[in-house]
Amino acid sequence: MGKVILTGDRPTGRLHIGHYVGSLRRRVELQDSGQFEKIFIMIADAQALTDNADNPAKVRQNIFEVALDYLSAGLDPEKSNIFIQSQISELTELTFFYNNLVTVQRLRRNPTVKQEMSLRGFNDEDEADNKAGIPVGFFCYPISQAADITAFKATTVPVGEDQAPMLEQTREIVHKFNSTYGPVLVMPEILLPDNSACLRLPGTDGKAKMSKSLGNCIYLSDSAETVAEKVRGMYTDPLHLQVSDPGHVEGNTVFTYLDAFCRPGDFERFGDCFKGRKASFEFHSLDEVKRQYEAGGLGDVMIKNFLTAVLNDTLEPIRVRRAELEKDLPYVYEVLRKGTEAAREVAAQTLAEVKAAMKINYFDPGMLDVMIRERNGQ
Ligand code: TRP
Repeated sequence: MGKVILTGDRPTGRLHIGHYVGSLRRRVELQDSGQFEKIFIMIADAQALTDNADNPAKVRQNIFEVALDYLSAGLDPEKSNIFIQSQISELTELTFFYNNLVTVQRLRRNPTVKQEMSLRGFNDEDEADNKAGIPVGFFCYPISQAADITAFKATTVPVGEDQAPMLEQTREIVHKFNSTYGPVLVMPEILLPDNSACLRLPGTDGKAKMSKSLGNCIYLSDSAETVAEKVRGMYTDPLHLQVSDPGHVEGNTVFTYLDAFCRPGDFERFGDCFKGRKASFEFHSLDEVKRQYEAGGLGDVMIKNFLTAVLNDTLEPIRVRRAELEKDLPYVYEVLRKGTEAAREVAAQTLAEVKAAMKINYFDPGMLDVMIRERNGQ
């Protein structure tokens, strides 16, 4: 059996450059590598509803946005099967059976769930202070994520670092299922970004995570001017007050972004960013830029102008494709409809195998005889 990819995103907003370097760019490379027999890319709308139950309009609006981001970033529906989670009822069935293989205690220990609970003010410990309570669906979403991954017998799950606990949970479920019912499910592996700056791209404000609610995102669909403006306002080094002061690269968001986006040819093409009235530099690598910044004399304006050029160079082709696709939304809709139909067939096959392994396939051909024989103690 060949290798199979499954991954996806919640449609709660347009995708940003953190999604791009953390996962999307890699998916496109993997897609084009020809190493995978099948690739499934899921718009996780049902998971988005686990903490947006009161806002289905937001989720629906973002179905098109995420699909447009996918296609414009280079996912090709001929090679990658793009589909919508909620339309595959087999996934909820699998979740229901996997629920029996996981304890409440185990879910509570999931670091991502813990962090998201505190982010959303879902309080588990102190009833008196518990304004919203924890929706059961939200609490259990790692189990539904295991269903997403196993339904497609994925071998490889390319995701950002924050999803590592979900993969751990999935692997435990696979192990438990297979040892209890027989070897039906495939053990998946996580595939993390290979560049450490891409593991978790910070927000433009330097906060640990780029997130819509924090308002610190650069979106794939932002215009060149918006990108320039957001970069101008970016967090750099609070100790770098004068251009001549030595600067810090560590923890400096502009350098983190450059680590994630800069390519060797960029110094030649965008070298003009480092030519100023007071000082001019000629750099050939990011290391040289960093050393100069640490030595002093290289101002934030120059490195920000360079970052803007580098980012816009990556984003421009994506923006152009997006503008084209936006003119033909019925095409995008068809991609989703066909992708969902094809994905459903695969999930249905796995569910049939799961049910047979769990001995709940009563009405399959031949089962009447099996059940009668069983009753007769044969
Ligand atoms: N949890 C992922 C996110 O928040 C989305 C997701 C749902 C997913 N199911 C998945 C990712 C299965 C990988 C595999 O972006």
